[in-house]
Amino acid sequence: MTAEISKVFYGTFIHSLSLKNLEILQNTLLGIDYFGKIAFIEKDILDEKTLNEILFQWKFPEDDVIRLSKWQFLMPGFVDTHTHASQYPNAGTGMDLPLLDWLKKYTFPLEQSYSSLSFAKKMYPTIVSHLLRNGTTTAVYFATTHLESSEYLAKIVKEKGQRGFVGKVNMDCNSPNDYVETLDDSVKSTEEFIDYVLNLEEEKDGSRLVYPIITPRFAITCTSQLMSSIGSLAKKYDIPIQSHLSENLDEIEFISKLFPNLSDYTTVYDHHGLLNGKTIMAHGIHLSSKERKLIKERNVGISHCPTSNFAICSGICNVRQLLNEGIKVGLGTDLSGGYSKSILNAVRNASIASRVVFMAIPSKGNDKSFPHLTLPELTYLATMGGAELVNLDQKIGNFLIGKEFDALLVDPNCNKSPLDIFDDLDDFERIFEKFMFLGDERNLKSIYVKGQNVSGTDFEEVDSHDK
Ligand code: GUN
Ligand code: FE
Repeated sequence: MTAEISKVFYGTFIHSLSLKNLEILQNTLLGIDYFGKIAFIEKDILDEKTLNEILFQWKFPEDDVIRLSKWQFLMPGFVDTHTHASQYPNAGTGMDLPLLDWLKKYTFPLEQSYSSLSFAKKMYPTIVSHLLRNGTTTAVYFATTHLESSEYLAKIVKEKGQRGFVGKVNMDCNSPNDYVETLDDSVKSTEEFIDYVLNLEEEKDGSRLVYPIITPRFAITCTSQLMSSIGSLAKKYDIPIQSHLSENLDEIEFISKLFPNLSDYTTVYDHHGLLNGKTIMAHGIHLSSKERKLIKERNVGISHCPTSNFAICSGICNVRQLLNEGIKVGLGTDLSGGYSKSILNAVRNASIASRVVFMAIPSKGNDKSFPHLTLPELTYLATMGGAELVNLDQKIGNFLIGKEFDALLVDPNCNKSPLDIFDDLDDFERIFEKFMFLGDERNLKSIYVKGQNVSGTDFEEVDSHDK
């Protein structure tokens, strides 16, 4: 009991212990140390005397305890395992085209604008603030190919106190003439980018919140040499990798023409040394059983992006099948293929997608059916599942002693609550379910990353970039 305590909460905590096990702890006291780590959790504290005894042991003043009111609860922060910060200005538009046409008409022209650092300075602070404000305490970002703008995004993520993985995009072929790199430039600027991010100031305990991530856009826009070279950089710096995999049928056909000697899309990435336990592949909708087997063998994580999959008609991912086969899954917003910046929206569309799969492949009393995702499973995917994809499952994702406190203080009955909680509802699982399906950022009173309050309705933004 030596750690100095910086914050203590008393009230209800809801978190995932496993895919199936959603734990609800009421009348619980949780203390955080000065490094943002959970120092103690004392359950079932029903009287003030016991509470005071514990506070005395930890030398923490009773008046400073943050006491949650009746329906308020704390839950782990959301992990967005796939989002394009650069595409935020397009969110909610351009949903009339399938992937490859959508990229050409809407996405590449917008991303090209980030050749101007002043454009990046206008956009990136807003998107990072908005993701935080929506409860995303960890985000895995695609920036663009531009070095300076990508460095700026990493700097902003760090300044705003979000946990983040930031990728400078690589693309050296099958791209617009004004939005493409040479092989040499792409590799060189990626190494410079890694160096920049790894040299951002560390936290007071010597750890870091912001990491670089190797980001080949997808195998269509990257030559073999580029994929191999940046795969080597990932190895050299021991950093993660992200890309897109098996999102759209035309994309898959194009890949088979570009790489006729490789058996499938997943093998293309594997052949270039890009698949390992630190790789996140977005979508993974149309994978064959052979590809899924390889993904499992390499311990690759799949970022399920259901809003995007619906919005640009890419397909419906059978998440139950991935989970049954032991593949790691997290959720992603995939802005702006997906129109919403909120992981709550991803949760809802993941639920709907799983119900569509369930109805399309009806159960006939055998083991071929795919039951839709449950509330505990959806919660897991949004928090612990994401933490596994970014290899931070020992650090964040739920409330265990020693983990860092990334959390949302949810007020289901706030002034402008969209939840309509009536007085006779006192079952916390139902209140939590209502929040997950009906709640929004108005219900997020405080948002904590590593114990620091970084956003929420009670938090005052000092940044003038924000609207
Ligand atoms: N595949 C390659 N680039 C992209 C992108 O920007 N968004 C999505 N959804 N898929 C991609
Ligand atoms: Fe994407």
